[in-house]
Amino acid sequence: MLLLLACTSPKEPADDTAPVDSVSDSGTDDTGTDLAPLETCGYTAMTDLDADPAVVEVNLTASMYAWDPGTGIPLEDGMAFNESVPGPVLEAKLGDTILVHFTNDTDMDTALHWHGLRVSPEMDGVMQMDDPVPPGGTFDYELPVVDTGTYWFHPHMDTSETIEAGLYAPIILHTTDEVAPDCDMPVVLDDVLLDEDTSQIAPPDTDMMQIMGRLGNVLMANGRSGRRVEWTAGQTSLLRFVNASNARYWDLYLEDHTFTIVATDGGFLAEPYTTDHLLVAPGERYAVIVEATGTPGETYRLMNRRYVLHEEDGHMIEYDPMGDGENPVMSFVYGDGTVEGSGWTQPTADVPTWGAAVENLGHHWLLEEDMAGGIVTIDGESWPDVPMVDVTAYTDTTFEVENASEMHHPFHIHGNRFQVVDVNGEFPEQGQGWKDTFDIPPRSTVTLVSALDNPGEWMFHCHILEHADDGMAGMMTVSAR
Ligand code: C2O
Ligand code: CU
Ligand code: CU
Repeated sequence: MLLLLACTSPKEPADDTAPVDSVSDSGTDDTGTDLAPLETCGYTAMTDLDADPAVVEVNLTASMYAWDPGTGIPLEDGMAFNESVPGPVLEAKLGDTILVHFTNDTDMDTALHWHGLRVSPEMDGVMQMDDPVPPGGTFDYELPVVDTGTYWFHPHMDTSETIEAGLYAPIILHTTDEVAPDCDMPVVLDDVLLDEDTSQIAPPDTDMMQIMGRLGNVLMANGRSGRRVEWTAGQTSLLRFVNASNARYWDLYLEDHTFTIVATDGGFLAEPYTTDHLLVAPGERYAVIVEATGTPGETYRLMNRRYVLHEEDGHMIEYDPMGDGENPVMSFVYGDGTVEGSGWTQPTADVPTWGAAVENLGHHWLLEEDMAGGIVTIDGESWPDVPMVDVTAYTDTTFEVENASEMHHPFHIHGNRFQVVDVNGEFPEQGQGWKDTFDIPPRSTVTLVSALDNPGEWMFHCHILEHADDGMAGMMTVSAR
C-alpha cells in the first residue's frame, strides 16, 4: 500500500526521541530529579471580573511562554494562555453569558475555538480565520452557556503547532442542580514530542508524523509529567478527562480503582456505567467518578496503555515513541486517615431520546486513504474541495461516517451536538449522551443523530491535527429555511 511505503521502518525510532518517564513505582524519580510537588485535588477557575452572577467575564492572553513539561527544562518555543499550561479553567453555569476579553500576544494570527460549545458562527473561530486576531490584537468573544459538561478551547489556526506548544484550556459548565463531590478536577491529557538531546519541542513533521499524527514522548496530565495529587481514603472524586493531544488515543486505567463514567462530551449520561479502563480519543471528554478505595499511605498511578491507531494486519503499524507497553501519567498519593466520602448523585441529565437512526439522512461521509497523496480524504476530496453538506436546521437528522481507511479517525463536528446511535450495526448501550467528537474505527461506520438546533456554517474535521492540516476537513451548512 503506497501510503505506508512512505513510512520508515515501524519499530525503529525515526528520530532521536525516546520515552520520557519521570514517575516510578516507589515514588522516586527515574532521572534523580525532584518529585513533582504534592497538589491538592481540585482546580482554580479564571477570575470572574463581573459582579453579575449570570455573567462570567474574563481576561485571556495567549503568549509565548517557556513552561516546564516536567523535565525541569522549560520549552523555549512554548506558548500558553495566561502563562499557564493548560490555561486556567473557564467556569460558568447553564444560562450564564461568558465574555472573554482576548489579547493575542503571540507572533501569529489566531482565532479561538470553543470546542463543543454551541455558540454563533461568528464566535466559533472558523469564520474568524478569514479575519483573525493579529499579533498584538484583541477580540471579545461572547459565549452563551446553553450546554453543560466539560469542554475546552484552543486556537483554530496553526492548530497542530499551537496546541503542541501549549495553547489549550478546559471549560467546565455546571448544571444548576449540581452537587460538588469531594474533589472536582480536570485532567487534561497531552503528549509533547521533545528532542532527546535538547529536551526542546522537536521540529515538526516528518512525513511519518503527518501520516500517523504526531505522537509525543512525554505524557502529561495538566501540562506536566509526574504530577502527584493528594487523596484521602473514602473520598469521592470527579475527574474530567480532556484529550488535547495532537494524535494520541489514551487508554487509561487507575491502579486498583474503577471508573464510573458519568459524562461524555456534552454532559451527563442517561445512565452512568462502571469500567476498569477508558479510551479517550483526541478532542473527546469523559467525566469519571472515582471512589478512593485505596489504602492510606499508598500511591496509585494513572496508567496509559499503548493504543494502536493503524490496525492493519501484515502492514506497518505506527511507531509510538512511548513504546509498545504502558506508561504512568500521574499519581494519586493517599494521605493518612480516612474520610466519610460525600458520595455523589448524578444531576439531571439532558440526554437525547433517539434510540436509533431517524429516517432523514443528512449525509453519508466517506473517509478514504488516498493512495497517491499519502492522505485521508473526505468524500474523495481534501479541504477546501470537500463537498459542502447542506442540511435543514431544527430537523432530526441522521449522519453516517464511513471509515474505509485502516486507521482510527476522531471525527469532530462544530456547532451542534449529536448522539451515537449505531456503530457497525449495533446500538451502543453504554455511554448514551451528547457527543461532538467521535472515534471512527478502521473499516467502520458510525451513525449519528442531531436535532441541528444551531443553524450556521460549521466545520467538520479529523481531530488528529496533522490530518486536519492535510485537508481532512469540510463545511456543513445548517440552514434555517
Ligand atoms: Cu477542537 Cu475544530 O476543533
Ligand atoms: Cu470544535
Ligand atoms: Cu484522521
